Amino acid sequence: MKAKGNNLNRRNFISKSALLGAGMVAGPLAFSNEKSSTGKIEGLKAASNPEKRMLGALEVSPIGLGCMSMKSGSYNPPRDKKDMIPVIRGAVDLGVNFFDTAEVYGPFTDEELVGEALAPMRNEVVIASKFGFDLTSGQRGGRNSKPEFIKQAVEGMLKRLRTDRIDLLYLHRLDPNVPVEDVAGTVKNLIKEGKALHFGLSEVSPTTIRKAHAEQPVAAVQSEYSMIQRALENEVIDTCGELGIGFVPWGAVNRGFLGDKFNEYSRFSADSRFASVPYFTPEAIKAHMKVLILVREWARKKDATPAQIALAWVMAQKPYIVPIPGTTKLHHMKENMGTLNIKFTNTELMEFRGALEKIPLVGVRGPETALIDQ
Ligand SMILES: NC(=O)c1ccc[n+]([C@@H]2O[C@H](COP(=O)([O-])OP(=O)(O)OC[C@H]3O[C@@H](n4cnc5c(N)ncnc54)[C@H](OP(=O)(O)O)[C@@H]3O)[C@@H](O)[C@H]2O)c1
Repeated sequence: MKAKGNNLNRRNFISKSALLGAGMVAGPLAFSNEKSSTGKIEGLKAASNPEKRMLGALEVSPIGLGCMSMKSGSYNPPRDKKDMIPVIRGAVDLGVNFFDTAEVYGPFTDEELVGEALAPMRNEVVIASKFGFDLTSGQRGGRNSKPEFIKQAVEGMLKRLRTDRIDLLYLHRLDPNVPVEDVAGTVKNLIKEGKALHFGLSEVSPTTIRKAHAEQPVAAVQSEYSMIQRALENEVIDTCGELGIGFVPWGAVNRGFLGDKFNEYSRFSADSRFASVPYFTPEAIKAHMKVLILVREWARKKDATPAQIALAWVMAQKPYIVPIPGTTKLHHMKENMGTLNIKFTNTELMEFRGALEKIPLVGVRGPETALIDQ
C-alpha cells in the first residue's frame, strides 16, 4: 500500500574502476545460500512476534528510525527540538520501536533529543547509540576506544539518553590503536554491569566481526548498504547471517536519492555534507538516475513510492536486515512504514537484480573495501 507520500576519510581507495567492479560482484550469487536442509537460516533466532525482526538476541521493529540529521544537521540544517520530538514520538505510534543515534551526532545534541523524546516511553523502545570518537574538545576528534575512555563515554551517553541502560551499544569506528577484542571485553563488562544490553559494530570487516563476536556476542553490524552501495554483499552480510548477527543498513535510501529527492541537475555547495560524498558528484548522479528510473518502474508495479521500493529491496535481501531510514518528517516515516506491505517474489528479486547489475555505478565502494575496517 502506498502511504501517500509527496511524491571519515574512509574512501580514499574509491575509484570509478573499483566501482564498476562492485556492480559485477553484487549479483545473487555473491550471497551464499545459508539455508540448511531444514529450511532454517543458520544462526538466526526467530522473533517471538512475526511483525518484528531479530538482531542477534534483540527483537526490534522491522524498520527503525535514524535520528542523525535531526540535530546534527547532516543533510539539512539542525531542526528544532519542538519539531523533532513529535517525529520521534509519532514513529512510536506508527509501530517503530528502534531508534538510532550516536554521541558524535551534534556532538551530543542528538542523543539529548532522543533521550528527551523517548523518556516517557522508555520501556517500550530500543535505543541504539555509538561511541568511538574523541569528543572532549566539543568537536569530533580522532578515534578513541581505550577501555577507560569507553567507560567514561558511556556514562555521558546514559545521562544524555536519560536512561540506565543502552539497549544496543555500537563501536562507531574501529580505533586502529585498540584491538577489537579489548573493545568487546570492555562492552562485555558494561553488559555485566547492566549499562549496556547488546553489542554492535559499525563499518568493520568480516575478520573484525569474527574476533569481536568470539569475545562478546555481537547483536548487530551497522554499515552502509543500499541498491547503489552494494560492496558489503562481499562477505560482510553473509558473515552476519552465519554468526546469527543482525545487519542494520544505514543509507538504505541512499541519503534521499532513492527517495526521489534529487535529480540529475542537483548540485551541492562546498559546505554541504553531500559535496564530499563520491556518489553525489554530477557524473555519479547522472549515472545513478538509471537506478532511480528502475526504482520508479518498480514503484508503479507495486503501487508504492520509490523510498518504499528502496527499503523493501534491502529488507528482501535477508530476514535479518533492519533498515533505519533517517528522516526529519513524520509523513516520510509513515511512508517508510508503508514498506511493510510490499513483498517481492524470488522471481521478481532476480529480475530486479538482473536489471540493477546492468547499470554501471560511479563513486561507490569497490567490493574489496568490504574486507577492510573503515
Ligand atoms: N554507522 C554509521 O557510520 C552511520 C552513518 C550514517 C548514518 N547512520 C545512521 O543511519 C541513519 C540513516 O542513514 P542516513 O540518514 O545517512 O541515510 P538514509 O536513511 O538513506 O537517507 C536519509 C535521507 O533520506 C530522506 N528520506 C527518508 N525517507 C524518505 C522518504 N520516504 N522519501 C524521500 N526522502 C526520504 C531524508 O530526508 P527527510 O528528512 O526530508 O525525510 C534524509 O535526508 C542515520 O540517521 C543515522 O542514525 C549511521
